[in-house]
Amino acid sequence: MHIWGGGGVYVGDDSMIAAHTTITSVTHELRNGGLYRKTRLKKPVVIGKNVWIGSGAIILPGVTVGDNAVVGAGAVVTRNVDSNTVVAGVPSKVIRTISADVIT
Ligand SMILES: CC(C)(COP(=O)(O)OP(=O)(O)OC[C@H]1O[C@@H](n2cnc3c(N)ncnc32)[C@H](O)[C@@H]1OP(=O)(O)O)[C@@H](O)C(=O)NCCC(=O)NCCS
Repeated sequence: MHIWGGGGVYVGDDSMIAAHTTITSVTHELRNGGLYRKTRLKKPVVIGKNVWIGSGAIILPGVTVGDNAVVGAGAVVTRNVDSNTVVAGVPSKVIRTISADVIT
């Protein structure tokens, strides 16, 4: 996997991240006439506890993934992911929720 950690990437206990995942915490200004190469915006990524990120997911800057969430293989995660939800797709959307009784 590849982590651009310059903006801060935090991973909670018991989480697992599959191969070929990319987590980005740095981006470039694209408003206000910003020059990409001369701007560097830090936006931390926070992965909660007991999260499962499938192969080849891309987590974009500033995203928080809640506890017990699952990110499907190949998902591009552009927005925060609520705890106990499964997201998939491009851009990722909720495909199901996880009931508390399956989380031990
Ligand atoms: C996200 C995931 C956990 C969902 O599993 P699930 O709940 O059993 O999902 P289902 O197979 O029942 O699929 C439910 C729907 O979501 C879709 N879907 C499932 N995974 C998807 C994915 N990664 N991207 C896009 N859509 C996906 C299915 O096509 C299905 O759509 P439909 O209802 O229109 O047919 C699983 O598909 C996945 O991506 N696992 C990651 C595996 C991996 O990366 N392993 C590496 C080692 S850890």
